[in-house]
Amino acid sequence: MSRKPLLAGNWKMFKTSAQAREFFGELLKQTYKGDREIAFGVPFTSLEASVEAARGSGIIIAAQDLYWENEGAFTGEVSGPMIAAAGAGAVIIGHSERRQMFGDTGEWVNRKTRAALAAKLTPIVCIGESLADREGGRTFDLLSAQLQDAFAGFAPADMVTVVIAYEPVWAIGTGKTATPEMAEEVHAHIRKWLAGRFDQTTADNTRILYGGSVKPDNVAKLMAQPDIDGALVGGASLKAADFAQIINFDS
Ligand code: PGA
Repeated sequence: MSRKPLLAGNWKMFKTSAQAREFFGELLKQTYKGDREIAFGVPFTSLEASVEAARGSGIIIAAQDLYWENEGAFTGEVSGPMIAAAGAGAVIIGHSERRQMFGDTGEWVNRKTRAALAAKLTPIVCIGESLADREGGRTFDLLSAQLQDAFAGFAPADMVTVVIAYEPVWAIGTGKTATPEMAEEVHAHIRKWLAGRFDQTTADNTRILYGGSVKPDNVAKLMAQPDIDGALVGGASLKAADFAQIINFDS
């Protein structure tokens, strides 16, 4: 198995282009272990500045959403080709904040993931259950349904670059991290789902990130789990010093 760890920041609606430049200026002064991939989901307005500031570092700059048409009368939207032309290499899709606050549906997540692939952007597809779902014993069924929707009509060849991020909604921005064991149980479920829906190779090769209050002091235990291949980090990705510690987790 060759799943390279991926540590991805998600800045959400934080950082102007000037602040992005300052951030990468600081982050690039730190040294970090080489066998890890690093990405940052940045606001659209900071894409180009981030790409320039991170140039030559190997850091992948990502958008946090996209629209599935390439161009047209879609006021306020940004397309995959536009994001790729800005120099980004990835895009976060279906984050729970988009699903909850902006109405992103399972069908939209599917269309957006297809659009990302068409634009040669790595889709980071987010799924996750609410507290009510978890307490109601619906976690696995709900996640399977989200996966089914996200990848409806996909073949194994479409999954090669796809990254899945499991983010329990109750753990996002709350300081309540899933325990490594709880997260692992879900990641193993997702991998089993991939094996059943696609094949064992797809299951073995797809990176599954955990997200939800990942911090410098809990990242190593999460990363030690066999099916956790990386992290999607919100709050702790805003300070270069914190994120440098996350990247350098002890393995
Ligand atoms: P958090 O956010 O690390 O602040 O909990 C994670 C996310 O929403 O991707």
